[in-house]
Amino acid sequence: MSIKATWLGHSAVWLETSNHKILIDPYLTDNPMASAKPEELSADLLLLTHDHADHLGDTEHFLKNGATFVGVFELAMEYGNKGYTVEPMNIGGSITVDGVRIHMTNALHSYEKGDAAGFIVETEDRQIYHAGDTALTMDMRLLNEFFNIDLAFIPIGDRFTMGANSAARAVEWIGAQRVVPIHYGTWPPIAGEPERFAQLVGSRAVMLKPGESVNV
Ligand code: NI
Ligand code: MN
Repeated sequence: MSIKATWLGHSAVWLETSNHKILIDPYLTDNPMASAKPEELSADLLLLTHDHADHLGDTEHFLKNGATFVGVFELAMEYGNKGYTVEPMNIGGSITVDGVRIHMTNALHSYEKGDAAGFIVETEDRQIYHAGDTALTMDMRLLNEFFNIDLAFIPIGDRFTMGANSAARAVEWIGAQRVVPIHYGTWPPIAGEPERFAQLVGSRAVMLKPGESVNV
């Protein structure tokens, strides 16, 4: 079954599978590039890569509306203590929630609490990777060894994450069929070089505008 993947702007991604709505890094309200308001979306799974404000965003809104929080142990405990439904995990681990397999991957980046991570969301026949905020890491080669990633969302904005050059190398290492660049163009300091990225990556690059979707 295909998955509809929508880039909501910055690092926010919405995945609609046959029986799930999965929201990753729901920074919408204060996001100048957001293509949707929180009230316009629903989620039963909320995946958070790390707790920087430009990722955390409207997390609590979706938890209040019944989404299950999936994230690093320390953050999951916090939300669990507030009474929300949580699935704590950590880097290298995998869980199955309601038929969806979720793997937490390494990300080389700072954070307030817990750790910074990425996710691979795996349904019966599709694998989608969201790298979170990260530098290029050798660990990305392992993803190619253990997964067959159909679509990857990777940061290219530079300054806080990979820039165009290292992100293009990441695409090679990950071995993703297609890749959507994210975490660029939100503000001038992370304008990034999307044209250069597209040129380096070639036909595997899917250059979405916020609000646009790709079917995987
Ligand atoms: Ni960050
Ligand atoms: Mn960020």
